[in-house]
Amino acid sequence: MIIHSHFDVNEKGHLTIGGVDTVDLANEFGTPAYILDENVIRENCRTYRRAAAEYFGEDALPLYASKALCFTGIYKIAAQEGMGVDCVSGGELYTAKKAGFPAEKIYFHGNNKTDKDIRDAMDMGVGTFVVDNHEELCAISKEAKKRGITQRILLRITPGIDPHTHRAVVTGNVDSKFGNPIVTGQAMEIVKAALQTEGVHLVGLHCHIGSQIFDLEPFSDAASIMVRFIADIKRECGFEVEELNLGGGFGVRYTEYDREIDYASSIRDIASIVTGFCKENDISMPRVILEPGRSLVAAAGITLYTVGSVKEIPGFRTYVSVDGGMPDNPRYALYQSQYTAVIANKANQAKDQRVTIAGRCCESGDLLGENMELQSAERGDILAVLVTGAYNYSMASNYNRLPRPPIVMVKDGKARIAVKRETYEDITANDVL
Ligand code: LLP
Repeated sequence: MIIHSHFDVNEKGHLTIGGVDTVDLANEFGTPAYILDENVIRENCRTYRRAAAEYFGEDALPLYASKALCFTGIYKIAAQEGMGVDCVSGGELYTAKKAGFPAEKIYFHGNNKTDKDIRDAMDMGVGTFVVDNHEELCAISKEAKKRGITQRILLRITPGIDPHTHRAVVTGNVDSKFGNPIVTGQAMEIVKAALQTEGVHLVGLHCHIGSQIFDLEPFSDAASIMVRFIADIKRECGFEVEELNLGGGFGVRYTEYDREIDYASSIRDIASIVTGFCKENDISMPRVILEPGRSLVAAAGITLYTVGSVKEIPGFRTYVSVDGGMPDNPRYALYQSQYTAVIANKANQAKDQRVTIAGRCCESGDLLGENMELQSAERGDILAVLVTGAYNYSMASNYNRLPRPPIVMVKDGKARIAVKRETYEDITANDVL
């Protein structure tokens, strides 16, 4: 086992994912390529569903936050596993629709939904809009009234929590582009406005404090702040919140220095706070929605590359360059995110080097990691970066006109393509002049 139990080394000394030899995968599908272990994603969905039902009650629903990894097949898996989904754009909604995902189980997010987004989502019959602000509330109401429908909504609330993670992925503090802060009084204002707005049916509240969070405390603080706010709403408006969406954000183990989180017991602990507060404050327990993204898909994935140049600059460092980089994984460039790398064809050898793994783009910041422990690399080796299932493919670009890699799914020892490799034709397809 390397970091997670579905990564191992076989008798040839090759890295395996879900029991499949990654060197064979690189030979069959080429590099760079994203590989996903489908059983890991399904198992993670089941963990969330079981824990949500056991600790929050049978009506609790975990949503898959599909921004983490979005392609048609993932919505099919989410549907089969009984999950809802969180979509944040017309493109995600379109993909979910193409997959046949049940629209009533979609929660439509985003801090700046366009009028077209709102129309498209209503055309699809999206179950719930998570309303970020007053303008959006008015726009949804206007469109719903025009159609003669009543749109189910939640309101996005900012609990005012600093979860101590990378600042680019913090969302629940007061100074945020997302939601309505409780401390400034804006949260109560929008609740009152929504209760008086025609064409919408306010069912509850949503909060999401950030991503890649390992401590339980920020989650339990957010949950208790939200439940207190629910009690305030009942007192001030006589309105009982029916649904509370607590967002996502659980951390994932990327390197051996990260802890492994037991998601089920974290859900149990948060549930005991919510149920305790509801009892103390004499409010009925709302239906609870959870919204994990990363923790469902990150560990399921790896990216395979082929090593090209290995450049040692004496007194400085060794650059190992691969045939991908920031276009397929921008997370080191953006957040200095740490990963584990393995030379897949030398996975049984000692990691006796410290190297910088560089991509192939014309820019020095195009790195996948620095000071990374690695086996001795040479041209032609297959390099695997582990735990790339979340926020890699979904954040990929065509920088330097590099085609996006394919997604290959392995399941029960077999591999199949879920998303084809982009071609040069694909990346010039929309060029008109
Ligand atoms: N719900 C909402 C409203 C969100 O904004 C997010 C993530 C989630 C749920 C899922 O959070 P998760 O369980 O995945 O932490 N690109 C960054 C992560 C951005 C997270 C955006 N929102 C990264 O690569 O680390």
